[in-house]
Amino acid sequence: MRLICFILASVLALYTNHAYASVLAIDYGADWIKASLMKPGVPFDVLLNKDSKRKIQSSIGWKQADRLFGTDAASIAGRFPLDSFSSIKFLQAVPYDSDAVSFYKSISSAEVVENERGTVSLRRSDGTEWSVEELIAMKFAYVKQLAEDAAGEPVHDVIVTVPPYYTQFERDAVVDAIEIAGLRTLALINDGTAVAVNYAMTRTFSQPEYHVIYDAGASAIRASVVGFASVAGDTKPKSLTKDALQITVAGVGYDRTIGGTELDRRLREIMIEDFNRKHKRDIRKDKRGMAKLWKEAGRVKAILSANADAMATVESVAFDIDYRSKITRADFEVACADLKGEFTRPIFDALANAGITLNDVTSVILSGGASRTPMIQAALKAAVGDKIAMNVNADEAAVLGAALHGASLSRQFKTKDIKVTDIGAYDIQVSYPAEAKSSNSNAKPRTINTLVLPSGSKTGSRKTLTFKRSDDFSVKLAYKAQPAPCVYFPAEILQVDIVGVAEAIKNITEAGAIDPVVKATVMLSESGFSSVRDVVVFGEFKDDTLTGRLKGFFGGGSSSSEEQITEGAEGVVGEEQAAFSAPVASPSTAASTKGKNETIALDVQVKFSSIQPMSVPDKRKARSRLAAVDSEEAAKQRREEAHNTLEGYMYKLRDLLDELRPDTPFVKCSQEPERKRIAEKLKETFTWLSEHGEDADTKALVDKRTALEALEYPIVHRYKEIEEFPRALNNSQMWNWSARMFITEARKNLTMEAQGGLPAKYTEEEVVALEQTLIEHETWLNEWVEKQKRVKMNEDPVILSGEMRARAKTLENQLQKLMRKKTPKAKKSTSASSTASSASEQATTVESASSSASPAPQAEDGPYEHHDEL
Ligand SMILES: *[C@@H]1O[C@H](CO)[C@@H](O)[C@H](O)[C@H]1NC(C)=O
Ligand SMILES: *[C@@H]1O[C@H](CO)[C@@H](O)[C@H](O)[C@H]1NC(C)=O
Ligand SMILES: *[C@@H]1O[C@H](CO)[C@@H](O)[C@H](O)[C@H]1NC(C)=O
Ligand SMILES: *[C@@H]1O[C@H](CO)[C@@H](O)[C@H](O)[C@H]1NC(C)=O
Ligand SMILES: *[C@@H]1O[C@H](CO)[C@@H](O)[C@H](O)[C@H]1NC(C)=O
Repeated sequence: MRLICFILASVLALYTNHAYASVLAIDYGADWIKASLMKPGVPFDVLLNKDSKRKIQSSIGWKQADRLFGTDAASIAGRFPLDSFSSIKFLQAVPYDSDAVSFYKSISSAEVVENERGTVSLRRSDGTEWSVEELIAMKFAYVKQLAEDAAGEPVHDVIVTVPPYYTQFERDAVVDAIEIAGLRTLALINDGTAVAVNYAMTRTFSQPEYHVIYDAGASAIRASVVGFASVAGDTKPKSLTKDALQITVAGVGYDRTIGGTELDRRLREIMIEDFNRKHKRDIRKDKRGMAKLWKEAGRVKAILSANADAMATVESVAFDIDYRSKITRADFEVACADLKGEFTRPIFDALANAGITLNDVTSVILSGGASRTPMIQAALKAAVGDKIAMNVNADEAAVLGAALHGASLSRQFKTKDIKVTDIGAYDIQVSYPAEAKSSNSNAKPRTINTLVLPSGSKTGSRKTLTFKRSDDFSVKLAYKAQPAPCVYFPAEILQVDIVGVAEAIKNITEAGAIDPVVKATVMLSESGFSSVRDVVVFGEFKDDTLTGRLKGFFGGGSSSSEEQITEGAEGVVGEEQAAFSAPVASPSTAASTKGKNETIALDVQVKFSSIQPMSVPDKRKARSRLAAVDSEEAAKQRREEAHNTLEGYMYKLRDLLDELRPDTPFVKCSQEPERKRIAEKLKETFTWLSEHGEDADTKALVDKRTALEALEYPIVHRYKEIEEFPRALNNSQMWNWSARMFITEARKNLTMEAQGGLPAKYTEEEVVALEQTLIEHETWLNEWVEKQKRVKMNEDPVILSGEMRARAKTLENQLQKLMRKKTPKAKKSTSASSTASSASEQATTVESASSSASPAPQAEDGPYEHHDEL
């Protein structure tokens, strides 16, 4: 926590008045979700879930009609194996017929089905199917709600961690889920990079250092070689503060097959074999049993992290058999023996990638939950020895780093200046048909492949390609090799059809351009998306003074965000913009052509020939499906509240009726027939509640309560009036008394003034008028107070405290009006009494009563304010 406080001190809100300044960070893992909120005025920390836990189990499920999140969702797997979905990170964007699905089926009892996009959905026991994106969106929306509860305002902007090896398809799936959840993608950040940001936050680097961020998570093990350097004084831009830092990812290594989940799987295999051998039954055939063993494997693994053996116990695991067995760490390690050399391989891959050796590295920083596993620690110790550093919080460094990075991107916070440069993990190439040599060649055109963004290319890189073309053509963007063979992702990412070439070339040529060409830029975005953008026809206009030579450089248009890229030409929800129709790089179409260059933006059509991201209509549909679930849950909650309120009220009434003492306010203020009516109605309502309570709608439940309340109302009303009567009477008497005093004094003054020939403050008429009102008030009060005194407690009052107060107010107002009158100035003529009447007309606006004369009025109470005292 001390670390967090330190960071807090360095994070200041720059614009506190900005609407929705909050930034949400989500570290989305296969097992756990961590979230953090950056908001001015809210301490920067990890968000707590509803049970005040610092991490949320990455599961979602349904217990019949109730949707569950976190541990609740995971723990029902043993009973509802088809309705509990965990580890679905493994399924992001994966093709249905891929090895990733086979692996998932080996660890989960959920039913995986193919959807229209060829990727996967999960089918619940009731037959409804939810795509992986929708399920993840529900989890994001759940986190969004937690954040909004903490922020006290809507939260829109989110930064989400992804593994550095995530392909474009998987990144698309993350962004799609973000959008379905109603959030806006600020960025995706590679998790190792996020840890690096967190690490750098509290440190300075007198000279450049390399560190390896080793991240052992549930889904994979990855390592990033990261360079940290303070930005030198003379080269850094003015905008940077003096402790500005540069973080440069230099290399990454990973293994997608050996995360914590694989260890769980192998541990469960031990238990499965053991069970089958002991009980001569195949537990694999029992979904519930498999789910129960899966949960137990996780528990046993945690125990084995600190102990040499652990007792696995699952009551009635399957076939009515209670499973009990001792599992030793030695058994577990034997089962994972083949992985021993693999745990640290990502470190050396990353180093090789970066072109440095372990000697160049200051430390190997451990993060990720699986980094605590003894066999991984042993492997690390053997491989990197004393370079191991455990100086970041293995669970929270990534989410906190992501939040800090998100805050710096949102530009609404003043954070420590940390410039981050990441890299792409894959070779990306473009393919396009070679230029047709001549019109007679009917041969199939040759395809040219160009490696545009080799692995290790910096994020933000742009490569401009120049094509000599006179007609429409297509460019394909693809991974050079199939990425992640363990998943079977396709190589091809997308195809861009460039249209209108001939006309643009004709136009620009007619305008005088020489040898016009088509240019397109391939870009790797900060969030790791590759795209083809800024497609233009480019023409150079020669003149005498300028003989520009083509250098293959093109200063393209403004960079637009990644979501637009992945949306392709279909635009972003709520922001219809075709990202690929180049954002008119240089709108110089009408420019004079002397010595200038001109570009004409070309239309492009983006096709996703392999794995399609969700289309805008798909996402809209998904969003409304989620909204329907939300409103259904809200309605259910309202119904439950109505049910509980009715039930609670009924028990309270029953207690009031059952109370045997005759001196309770309820008994004192009620009559026997009234109590009998309530008792009858109550009995009837209890019967109704037991018969129909479970399926009655909200309105029926509210109506039942209203009907009972109507019967109780007269009693509550009497009680309240009895309470209120002395206070109202005191008030009336106080004004009665004040007015009487005033009149007596005013009369005395009048006489004195008349005798002394002084100007009179009041006229006789005014005093008489006040006295008249006073007498009326007094008479009414005397009469009705007497009547009221004869009313029994269990009878309705004959005068209401409200009316008493209103009448006293009339008297008060008239009195106040006179009291506020100014004494007229002494005039030359002493017979001034005739002018007094006109003077009385002035200064009569009823203002707030002077404080000296105000009695302490009682606040008006709500009808049931005293209800609980009954
Ligand atoms: C070419 O010029 C014509 C006539 O000015 C214009 O209508 C058309 O939009 C231009 N096409 C392109 C691609 O610039
Ligand atoms: C036109 O483009 C060429 C090649 O990119 C460049 O050398 C030249 O400076 C440009 N001329 C103008 C006026 O922008
Ligand atoms: C009547 O009101 C006055 C002034 O608010 C207060 O001092 C006095 O205690 C009250 N008397 C009763 C009986 O409530
Ligand atoms: C009104 O005040 C006068 C004078 O203080 C008092 O004699 C009279 O009883 C009061 N009347 C009521 C109804 O309180
Ligand atoms: C009566 O006269 C005195 C002395 O001038 C003054 O303080 C008081 O407010 C007057 N009272 C009324 C009711 O006018």
